[in-house]
Amino acid sequence: MDANATTPLLPEVFEAMRPYWMEHFGNASSIHLHGQQARTAVDRARETMAEFFNCHDAEVVFNSGGTEGDNTALIGLLHPGDHLITTSIEHSAILEAARRLAQHGVETTFVAPQPSGLINPTDILRAIRPETRLISVMLANNETGVLQPVEEIGKIAADTGIFFHIDAVQGAGKVKIDVRKIGCHLLSISAHKMHGPKGVGAMFVRRGTPIESLLVGGSHERRRRAGTENVAGIVGLAKAAELAMHSLADGTIEHLAKLRDHLETEILRIPGTGLNGAGADGKPVVRAANTSNIWFDHLEGEALVIALDLKGVAISGGSACHSGATEPSHVLMAMGLDKTRARASLRFSLLKTATDADVDHVLRVLPEAVEHLRAISSVATGTLG
Ligand SMILES: Cc1ncc(COP(=O)(O)O)c(C=O)c1O
Repeated sequence: MDANATTPLLPEVFEAMRPYWMEHFGNASSIHLHGQQARTAVDRARETMAEFFNCHDAEVVFNSGGTEGDNTALIGLLHPGDHLITTSIEHSAILEAARRLAQHGVETTFVAPQPSGLINPTDILRAIRPETRLISVMLANNETGVLQPVEEIGKIAADTGIFFHIDAVQGAGKVKIDVRKIGCHLLSISAHKMHGPKGVGAMFVRRGTPIESLLVGGSHERRRRAGTENVAGIVGLAKAAELAMHSLADGTIEHLAKLRDHLETEILRIPGTGLNGAGADGKPVVRAANTSNIWFDHLEGEALVIALDLKGVAISGGSACHSGATEPSHVLMAMGLDKTRARASLRFSLLKTATDADVDHVLRVLPEAVEHLRAISSVATGTLG
């Protein structure tokens, strides 16, 4: 239930990668046969990623994952005096990059979401200034799964001549990505969120986008990312992307959404619960197929995480742990939840390979765990007066 943290390799991904650690171990920059084998594998992977993004091969840059892509989009494009527009619900890879840039004369406007978790494109439009150079908005939120209106934001960026980056780390593999349709200049993904290996990712960089590499050295990736290519990782990313395209076409992701909906409906039958990511009508807004974020009144989310872990369910709270102190989630707080409710929220995120049995197990152990924790907390409240 924690696929948004990371996912296991699919067996096909592992098998595709295997030869590139042993017999085909070459450096893709070498001229000899070993190098040629590695280069061919990287070229083939680039073709697959170009299909995945709907772009040209030359617009794909391989890197180390989502953090690097997000950092590169901001730090590689913005200069002192520039203005950045992003949202207050982004991943820390964006938020911290913006914080770093603030020390170098780049101002940022953080657009807040509506209570549903959706960003209103009009709020992006209103934030534009003459010096705005970049808009960066995520495709799917990692905590709520809420899908942002990136096509509408893309139109705003095109009309105003501003660069547009999308953090698609949590959207990749769950919704079809089409960079031409969206009209973005930059888009980042990470292999390990879509059943590929950790430490590898890719970026779409539209031809002519003046992005500077964070790493300098060799002339790899057309001078857009120095460092010997992680050939096995790149092959694994491409295999995961190929399988993701199949899953989007063959009904696997629709089935996953049904499984998530069933899990969510049943959990919401527990009294004192509610959905994070619902509109004013109480209905869920458009979300990635695998994610559901739910609050449970009268308990601590962290206690429920531990109780579920003991029952064989690996899950995360809607909160992140900073230097030992549990801070309520910045995403849920930005959506207007109070601290108590934000701390009492859990993120259920299903693997693509999740089964009915997995969901049934959660539904068997969760109500009991909630009841138990609530009983303890009411006793504690009574004792403390
Ligand atoms: C939305 C989002 N962006 C970026 C990242 C960072 O990706 P990576 O783990 O590949 O550095 C994550 C990972 O949790 C994420 O969820």
